[in-house]
Order: sequence, then C-alpha cells, then structure tokens
Amino acid sequence: MGTLEFAAAMSHAPGIAAFTQAAPAAQRQAFFDAAAALRSAVSAAHLDAMVVIAPDHFSNFFIGNMPACCVSLNARYSGPVEDWLGVEKMDVPGAPELAQAIMRHAYSRGIEPAGAAQTELEHSVVVPLGLLAPAFDIPVVWVMMNCQVPPLMSLPRCHELGQAIRSAIDASGMRVGVLGSGGLSHAPGAAEADRLDETFDREFLSLLDRGATAEILAMPPARLDAAGFGAWEVRLWVAAMGAAHDRRPRTLAYEPIEAWDTGCAVAIFDGAGR
Ligand SMILES: [Fe+2]
Repeated sequence: MGTLEFAAAMSHAPGIAAFTQAAPAAQRQAFFDAAAALRSAVSAAHLDAMVVIAPDHFSNFFIGNMPACCVSLNARYSGPVEDWLGVEKMDVPGAPELAQAIMRHAYSRGIEPAGAAQTELEHSVVVPLGLLAPAFDIPVVWVMMNCQVPPLMSLPRCHELGQAIRSAIDASGMRVGVLGSGGLSHAPGAAEADRLDETFDREFLSLLDRGATAEILAMPPARLDAAGFGAWEVRLWVAAMGAAHDRRPRTLAYEPIEAWDTGCAVAIFDGAGR
C-alpha cells in the first residue's frame, strides 16, 4: 500500500520567481501566504516522492516532437533551463521506480504516455517546488502534459490520467504528494497578455471548491480559449483532481496578478470523504 499524503494545485508563472516584486504587495502576500500553507503541509507529510504534473514550455519538447503527455523516468534532473528565472541551477532527485509504475498503471487504463529519462526541469516544476519544498530534496516524478501545441488531451482524459497516477501511488508502498502546476487565465507573450479573465478563473475555482467535477470536465474548449491560451493549463489542475478524486479541494488564494501575467491560484485537496 502507498498513500497520497499531499495534493495541491497552483500557478507557476515565471514572474513569481523572476520578477517577484513587480506584483502589488497585497497580491504577493496573499499568494505567498497560501504557498506557505502548502509548504507546511508538505513538510508535515514526510513525502518519499512528489509527482509534479506540469507542462513543458518548449524546454524539452518542441512543435516537431510533442507528446500528449510524458512521464520523466529520470534518476536525477538538472534545471531550471531558464537562466533568466533567477533560480540557481541545481540537481533534483528523481523517482524512476514510481515513474515506471505510473507508466504501467496508465497503460493498463488505456492511456499511453511517452517516457523520457533525460528531461531537464523548467519553471513549471521549479517555481512551485521552490515554494513548497525549497531544499529540492524530495524525489520528483515530472508528468508532463502538452498544454501548448493543439490538439490537447480532453479534460476527461486528463482526469483519467490523474486517476492512473493515483492508482500507481496507491500501489507504490510510498508516501507520495501530487502537485498540479499551471494556469489559470493568461496569454503569455500575446498582445492581450496583461488582460486576465478573472470571471473564468473565479468560475473555475468555484466549481472546484463545490466539487463540481462533471461541470469542470464538460467545460467547452472555446471557454478555455477565451480565457487566453494559458488557460489550457487547467489540464494540470484537472489531472490533480483525478489523482485526488476522493479529497475535497479548497482554494487558499486567488489573485489576478497582471504584473505576473497570470491569474494566480493556490488550492489544496485536504478534506477526506467527499
Ligand atoms: Fe505555463
């Protein structure tokens, strides 16, 4: 038996690390206070491994060769690849046996992720992990989901992938955490980059907090498109929902932080027996 000892989802905007002070103090505080609550939960959980479900922003995978999803089988990672992030390059331990188990459980459920043993970490993993486990000493399995290059996995499919991750955790004999890293509304690099869709973000988080999984999975792709292509990253939240399907989600913070170009939210799945 293994156990899911921690589950959460949060935004990974590079600005959180690269231009922290650009955000208004009150918004910054709300976001970092919520991240600190997650850090306490991680510390109390004594994790053997953390599964980080996060996209790749053309750090390892490119338009010419983009898997729908990919499990990192690394024994060790280096990163971040972005030298402008303001985070020193480091080595982070991997958890290849758990990664292989996630592959097997996914395949047994009819989902076939790619596997890669030499991925390098980027901001989508390093930024949230730096807030939750700043010593970077918890072995990591990075489950990459393509949120950049359509076609993208459907939301129900993302939820199923999360459930497969969970079944691997339950069989692992390990104490494992799951972190969904992405979104919410944003459109980095686009002309409308500073226009966040607060209505979408609040609607999504309200559905999350109400446990309205079916409504989230039925969200039409056009609604995500309208919130900016960065909102495609709600897939990481949905996968975390699948992994923590028996836990009650709770939004700890939401701030539409224009200076970081992202609707920034932090949620924990910590209630039992939903
Ligand atoms: Fe992103």
